[in-house]
Amino acid sequence: MELEKFVDPLPIPSIIMPKEQYKGEPLYEVRMIETLHKFHRDLPAAKVWGYNGLVPGPTFNVERNQSIYVRWTNHLPLKHFLPVDKTIHGAVHNPEVRTVVHLHGSPSEPDSDGHPEAWFTRNFRQTGPHFKKEIYHYPNSERASCLWYHDHALGITRLNVYAGLAGLYFIRDKHERTLPLPKGKYEIPLVIQDKSFNPDGSLFYPAQPENPTPNIPYPSIVPAFLGNTITVNGKVWPYLQVEPRKYRFRLLNASNTRTYKYQFSNHIPFYLIGTDGGLLERPIRVESLDVSPAERVDIVVDFSKLKGQSILLQDGFELGNPTGAIMEFQVTKPLSFPDQSRVPLLLSHIEPLSLNCVRKVRRLTLQDSQDEFGRLMLLFDDKTWMDPVTETPLLGSTEIWELVNQTPGIHPIHIHLVNFRVIDRYDENGNLVEPLPADFGLKDTVLVAGGQTVRIIMKFQPYCGDYVWHCHRLEHEDHDMMRPLTILPCDFSSKSNSGHHSD
Ligand code: C2O
Ligand code: CU
Repeated sequence: MELEKFVDPLPIPSIIMPKEQYKGEPLYEVRMIETLHKFHRDLPAAKVWGYNGLVPGPTFNVERNQSIYVRWTNHLPLKHFLPVDKTIHGAVHNPEVRTVVHLHGSPSEPDSDGHPEAWFTRNFRQTGPHFKKEIYHYPNSERASCLWYHDHALGITRLNVYAGLAGLYFIRDKHERTLPLPKGKYEIPLVIQDKSFNPDGSLFYPAQPENPTPNIPYPSIVPAFLGNTITVNGKVWPYLQVEPRKYRFRLLNASNTRTYKYQFSNHIPFYLIGTDGGLLERPIRVESLDVSPAERVDIVVDFSKLKGQSILLQDGFELGNPTGAIMEFQVTKPLSFPDQSRVPLLLSHIEPLSLNCVRKVRRLTLQDSQDEFGRLMLLFDDKTWMDPVTETPLLGSTEIWELVNQTPGIHPIHIHLVNFRVIDRYDENGNLVEPLPADFGLKDTVLVAGGQTVRIIMKFQPYCGDYVWHCHRLEHEDHDMMRPLTILPCDFSSKSNSGHHSD
């Protein structure tokens, strides 16, 4: 059955409010629960797992430098409703349903970062080896930006996020408020995820092998998931009625695997004004944007000359296919008051990172490999999650990482704790290639195309401790394309003479 497009209005996720004060700061309560969610007018409600029962979860809207506490609790069943591969890291001898929440893009303290082994089960009955505390603390010290929170439990992240465990987290600041950008109801979040549905309306997630054999476990993790429908804010191919004026859209690609080429029908140009880490210095006029999983883009689109028209947000990689459409904007609302918003030429200032202060350059390869069952597995430097830590930067030090993609596929590489800058990109022959528009902003996730080498630079601060870095194609992350990252205190090298660390 092909679902009719543009029949459901775009929902806007609700804003969560704190419940009480805790240690003098606001405390939020978020419960992970199983519930039913209607993805489309013509689909029966599907079983989902939602933060506070919502898909996507409630949106946080917090002020820069005002820290908060969040108590994330698990009230989920003990059995998963999606196919759990019991042979991959984290899933082997552990409870089937585990959760832990990572605030993606936040420089969180290590004990509040949602380490994949800091998982907990229902009512915190069982906890993973890295579990430290029930209430997480977020300092919100970063620039105004669009972060997101999602599940990060080792070996089942792809299933938990697909089940619905993802939501938005906005940081606001004074500087952003002084800009004449579209605001209030003219600033709209768009959480984009591809899904597939069974005929009864339930969520479909594949398992392999299709014809089970004795040598390969069933269900086995798949190396990629591409859904046949696109959802935005939890609705399949929704529509939004807009006024003929400028709108600011905060787009999050929360898909498991899919990279989109966002563009509008008729090649309507738009402005990229911000990336993962907040506003760019200057807007960039674009006609399309390639965005891989976990990346966010902040854009301004002008509908003022499009009165009466219907404009599609599309995926330029899939034009002609059903998934080539993402959602529809119907410019049918009357202009409620004159549009005085604009895109200023100067948006913000981004502190440069000097190449002269680089303490270490790491060359890290992205490569195809095989697991013990002969299944495709993607790795960094041929190392699995369980191999000893090798990325051990000193607190406060600046490093360059060369991400060398020796595979034909796209890998969105995400590093916890830091924002980085993209220095440059090379093709497989070592020739410099054009930067992507998003390369001009602060990033926490970078699209590394097949065969490319991407160089990034970052400063490891403000905390030391255990973090991770990984591919954000969740099917890769869950199958060992994830490595520990330990930030060492700066006096480490003087006090220690053990040769165990790569530093
Ligand atoms: Cu968005 Cu380590 O995750
Ligand atoms: Cu990958």
